[in-house]
Amino acid sequence: MASIDLSPRTMFVFLCTICLFGVITLALAAATLGTINKRFDSLTVTTSTTQTKLNSPLAETIRIDDLVNHLRQLQRIANESNGNRAINTRGFNATVDYIYNYLQNQIGTLQVTRRTFTIRNFALAKNPILLSKIEGTEKNYTYSTTLARSEFTYANYSTATKFTDYVRVVSIPNFGCSEDAWKNVSGLVALIKAGGKCTYAEKGMLAADSGIQALLFYSDGETSSNLAPVNVRLRHTNKLPALALSYTAGEALATAASMGTAFVKLEIELENMPPFPVDNVCADTPHGDATQTIVVGSHSDSVPAGPGINDNGSGTAANLVLAANLARLYQTSNYKKYKYRVRFCWWAAEEIGLAGSSDYVDKAKVSTEPGERRADILVNLNFDMAGSPNFIFGIYDAKTALNGTPVEALPGSQKITELYRDWFIGQNLPWDYRDFNGRSDYGPFLAAGIAAGGVATGSDAVKSAAQRDKYRQSIGEENAGFAGAILDPCYHLSCDTLVNIHLYGYEKLVQAAAYGLEYLGQRDDLKTWLYPQ
Ligand SMILES: *[C@@H]1O[C@H](CO)[C@@H](O)[C@H](O)[C@H]1NC(C)=O
Ligand SMILES: *[C@@H]1O[C@H](CO)[C@@H](O)[C@H](O)[C@H]1NC(C)=O
Ligand SMILES: *[C@@H]1O[C@H](CO)[C@@H](O)[C@H](O)[C@H]1NC(C)=O
Ligand SMILES: *[C@@H]1O[C@H](CO)[C@@H](O)[C@H](O)[C@H]1NC(C)=O
Ligand SMILES: *[C@@H]1O[C@H](CO)[C@@H](O)[C@H](O)[C@H]1NC(C)=O
Ligand SMILES: [Zn+2]
Repeated sequence: MASIDLSPRTMFVFLCTICLFGVITLALAAATLGTINKRFDSLTVTTSTTQTKLNSPLAETIRIDDLVNHLRQLQRIANESNGNRAINTRGFNATVDYIYNYLQNQIGTLQVTRRTFTIRNFALAKNPILLSKIEGTEKNYTYSTTLARSEFTYANYSTATKFTDYVRVVSIPNFGCSEDAWKNVSGLVALIKAGGKCTYAEKGMLAADSGIQALLFYSDGETSSNLAPVNVRLRHTNKLPALALSYTAGEALATAASMGTAFVKLEIELENMPPFPVDNVCADTPHGDATQTIVVGSHSDSVPAGPGINDNGSGTAANLVLAANLARLYQTSNYKKYKYRVRFCWWAAEEIGLAGSSDYVDKAKVSTEPGERRADILVNLNFDMAGSPNFIFGIYDAKTALNGTPVEALPGSQKITELYRDWFIGQNLPWDYRDFNGRSDYGPFLAAGIAAGGVATGSDAVKSAAQRDKYRQSIGEENAGFAGAILDPCYHLSCDTLVNIHLYGYEKLVQAAAYGLEYLGQRDDLKTWLYPQ
């Protein structure tokens, strides 16, 4: 069976059945942590990996049961909050309170702060209107938030607009996923097909400076469930009007647009709502030079669609365990305390465009308070999705940083890539590079010229047969996962629950994360190591 590549859909059912089986086993064990350990041990013992020392006292403290305890709390919070932990919901507030209280009460040796900032709100004042004119024939499209019955629906964080006249529609090539696709479209309305190698929010960002008048996203129609319009959400900083269309409506416009005969007129009216507050939480080690700070981040919100246990509860929990365990190690006399302050942060509102980390970096840029200034941040480590069920050990590859990344950030980022790679090699573990494209909370740091890096287990990419074979060779059949299946089949879905976590992959990844932090912390020359000039 292992040599057969199954389709993602089949695999999804299969994986979830396996996970479910695992979690039922766990649940039957009445949450005794010993049982989790036993299951974990039985997994590792049967692999071909020889047990290697982790080469790091901090990494040695990382236990899957501590991580899972936090995830269980996050799942409980989602359960009590309509199934998610998205910003502007009870579930998000409860998550932030949980993080804050845990750090405050359990540890006591970290200095914990909440930093409030505001996020734009979005609500429609009335139903938007979309009209088209194709070869002289006008059409008025049916709006509904019941997607199956609608020809179009709103896109969250659209701006308001009222066209006085019809505007010509242009089909954007390459799903709107490259800068080139947005050349020479000024003054027109964009028609963008779902899919490609980027998110709706990224399409919106690429469109930002193109001079386009509005964005019309449409479903790709590739399966019967991809016919209706979808819920699109842009970044909260978006400055373009946008709507989401059904496959049928989009195709008809695309056909006419290819002959230059598609024109549309739209009207979107928004409710004037005040922005709402959200909190970043940070916890500082009392030791270490505040003007040389290592910032370790993960995000605290989920998407509205689901509980977000892998994305990004797994990163949230990883960061909690790292903070708690480092604080405990600092209380033991034989652990070498770092010369640098470590600031662990849980960023709010990653899912609407890295809002929490952007706010932090923006404030640092204008701060004059020692310890809070941009110049006081030496490096950012980011831990996002860490427990993907069909995981890879993914290392952000500094060589793939976006064009325009400040050059001073690159040598240090490259060294962080290498230090993680060398650890995985030393542990006889497989590893892969991951794009360092700024899609997670390290993005604003990197863009500000701060060296960054991290590890993650993957989201919507597909595991190749070659990758699966490589993983099978070093960590055995039961941990190798499935070729042809996406790394997290529940990425941004309601099934991103406790069963959506690979325990072996998760523990190892967080041990890697811990090693990286300790390696940086215990260098005497971190500043010149990261910034050789
Ligand atoms: C969350 O809800 C699911 C489904 O209702 C349930 O199976 C699970 O035990 C709950 N988890 C927690 C931690 O409360
Ligand atoms: C969340 O907390 C903020 C204060 O930080 C409060 O203004 C807001 O009303 C709360 N939201 C919900 C949905 O409870
Ligand atoms: C838009 O997204 C924000 C952030 O998740 C959410 O609070 C708001 O309710 C959404 N608005 C609509 C109309 O979906
Ligand atoms: C299009 O339909 C909407 C909603 O039914 C209506 O309010 C609007 O006046 C119509 N516009 C035209 C030009 O028919
Ligand atoms: C840009 O578009 C205009 C008409 O839409 C066309 O005449 C012109 O050749 C295009 N320029 C480039 C560089 O593609
Ligand atoms: Zn996400």
